[in-house]
Amino acid sequence: MTAVEGEFRIKKIKEGTVIDHISAGHALSVLRILGMTDVKNNVVSVAMNVPSHKLGKKDIVKVENRELNAEEVDKIALIAPKATINIIRNYVVIEKQKTKIPNIIRGIIKCDNVMCITNSKEPIQPTFYLEKEDPLRLRCYYCNRIMDKDDILRQF
Ligand code: CTP
Ligand code: ZN
Repeated sequence: MTAVEGEFRIKKIKEGTVIDHISAGHALSVLRILGMTDVKNNVVSVAMNVPSHKLGKKDIVKVENRELNAEEVDKIALIAPKATINIIRNYVVIEKQKTKIPNIIRGIIKCDNVMCITNSKEPIQPTFYLEKEDPLRLRCYYCNRIMDKDDILRQF
């Protein structure tokens, strides 16, 4: 373990998930994705603007006694592409997953084009192609609308 990245700022957790290497400033969006802004049951710790060798500065979110589902992981990948998701059991990191933006993003964000068929009464799932990772560009499969990171952040 690298003892340098300011990890001493928040304590280690016993069970749960640590979302590490979140691009600085995006921790609150991660909390919204996880539905943690009105937290009742889970203990959540957040560190923002922690010095990081890889990113310069990063945010960290630790959620106790909870794992993430695939949809949450995909959403986090969109806004924090360098994030690492660590599963902790009995204080040990038992699994470390790098987020990866899927090539086809289905159902997790809406198209910003109000005329898009995915925003009509038709039961059609919004679907995007990953056109570019950095800077992020998604293209709507149905109307070709380009969505960038700011457009996506506005939805979370
Ligand atoms: N962590 C934690 N509680 C634990 C174990 C780990 O909060 N019981 C946190 C660490 O503080 C770190 C992250 O989980 O933020 C990943 O832990 P670890 O893999 O030990 O750290 P690194 O090797 O620095 O991770 P990486 O290589 O992904 O930078
Ligand atoms: Zn569209």
